[in-house]
Amino acid sequence: MHYSSFPATRLRRLRYEPLVRRLVRETVLSPDRFILPLFVRSGVGIRQAIPSMPNHFQLSIDELVLEAEQAVSLGLGGIILFGIPETKDSIGSDAMSEVGIIARAVRAVKQTVGNKLLVITDLCFCEYTDHGHCGVVYEKPNGGFEVDNDATLENLFRQALVHARSGADILAPSGMMDGMVRALRSGLDREGFSQIPIMSYAAKYASAFYGPFREAAESSPQMGDRRSYQMDSAAAAGQAVREVQLDLDEGADIVIVKPALAYLDIVRLVRDRFEGVPIAAYNVSGEYCMVQAAAEKGWIDEKAIVLESMTAITRAGASIIITYWAKKLAQWL
Ligand code: PBG
Repeated sequence: MHYSSFPATRLRRLRYEPLVRRLVRETVLSPDRFILPLFVRSGVGIRQAIPSMPNHFQLSIDELVLEAEQAVSLGLGGIILFGIPETKDSIGSDAMSEVGIIARAVRAVKQTVGNKLLVITDLCFCEYTDHGHCGVVYEKPNGGFEVDNDATLENLFRQALVHARSGADILAPSGMMDGMVRALRSGLDREGFSQIPIMSYAAKYASAFYGPFREAAESSPQMGDRRSYQMDSAAAAGQAVREVQLDLDEGADIVIVKPALAYLDIVRLVRDRFEGVPIAAYNVSGEYCMVQAAAEKGWIDEKAIVLESMTAITRAGASIIITYWAKKLAQWL
């Protein structure tokens, strides 16, 4: 007698009744797992639509504060801020200024939401530099240019310090510079911010899925691309393991895999290799706009597609999801 096979085993028995299906579910979505990305610029009363990202806007600080209040009432886990400065220069000075766009935005939001919402800041320079690269750029002797890893680390720390002093709850370095977590952790500890967690973009791939974000953040590289620092999607998957390991060794508290849906194997790999490490998946702008476009045409059911995708990302092993659907998800759940 084989009880492990038909007819003793009928897997449909767990599927007939909705209450039974609900009982045996393992993947549960909840609003406090979602982080909403927001774009902030200077001015007052500005809500400038981002054409390739329906329902998302470049917001002035007063409008940003309203969004943050809404995030609180929806029970979201947090918001992650991206700044569009008034002026850009070769090193991205606005990012390191106490009166820069993010420093002002964080102070205003924290003043309003207090400890009811996590305010996370993205640490990078591509939105602040006139060349659109994620750090300090130098010209190579025989032509071309390169991003200077170690010079960028110094600036990253200056940016982190400004964010920490402004009241950011978590810092998220996204520039894929070698040693970035170590530079931040040691500097922050020295300055008395040892309690601030680092959520590192550990496995961040050079991806065409970032297209709409670069329109939103006005951060497209003006020359070349980001392939000399972001990961190659065709590289050995184990390279993501090495990136995560290094960031953890340097003091990262949470690691990000980005993008999400085309990289679920990486999420699963990281989940299996690093027990007890919180993993965030960044469901990026390109993933968002494709669904929005198809939904607008009536070709797919947005809510069903998004809930299924979030379930997949969670099932793959991410416990935190950064997503442009965060507000809608909270409403749907
Ligand atoms: C870098 C950064 C980018 C994204 C998040 N942080 C852009 C890039 O690396 O080019 C992309 C996010 C998205 O596409 O939604 N500051």
